[in-house]
Amino acid sequence: MRGLFISVEGPDGSGKSTQVTNIKEFFESRGRDVVLSREPGGTVIGERIRNIILDKDLKEMDPMTEAMLYAASRAQHVSQVIMPALSEGKVVICDRFVDSSLAYQGCGRGLGEAVAVINSYAVRGCMPDLTFLMKLDPEVGKHRIEENRAEQDRLEQEKLAFHRKVYEGFLELEKEHPDRIVGIDASLAVDRIRDLIYAKLEELLG
Ligand code: TYD
Repeated sequence: MRGLFISVEGPDGSGKSTQVTNIKEFFESRGRDVVLSREPGGTVIGERIRNIILDKDLKEMDPMTEAMLYAASRAQHVSQVIMPALSEGKVVICDRFVDSSLAYQGCGRGLGEAVAVINSYAVRGCMPDLTFLMKLDPEVGKHRIEENRAEQDRLEQEKLAFHRKVYEGFLELEKEHPDRIVGIDASLAVDRIRDLIYAKLEELLG
């Protein structure tokens, strides 16, 4: 029996975390065992890698180093958490997964195809059954973060031009994988977004 793997993606400040919690409640109310996780992180090793990647003092980090660190965190996460949970029939909900690398490092940093190659080793065919892409103008997302957070991490501190490229990357992925990636208008009210997501999940469960 294989469980269900769901990822939530989108630009910084697009309200992913709120919806991740809603998706968890959706499955728990149906009696499913849910594993909630995030990237970078999700394991002890991954959380340590996360601290390095997001450290705002490490401005000299090479883009390829960055891409490999995200992939390293992912490799550990897939083998230690995601694959075992799926093989036990659980529902895995992940706040960001490989699409973030393709958008941020592939498009944002301009590393292109190399990112897909590196990540094929990390993911080993373990791809989400469904991915919700929270679609929000990166400028709006950036404003939300600047208003709500005292301190921004290394990636959040990037200029708007970088976040625009990342967003274009996400839109490109949505076009390439229409069966897996479901775009959600993240400018709507949170309850409306939850209803759209729940409708899609009902459809998935048949
Ligand atoms: P996240 O913890 O989701 O931050 P937030 O809650 O602010 O959205 O992700 C941290 C940052 O890492 C975020 O700016 C996106 C970036 N990121 C990548 O650049 N590549 C990746 O593969 C992942 C998973 C995240």
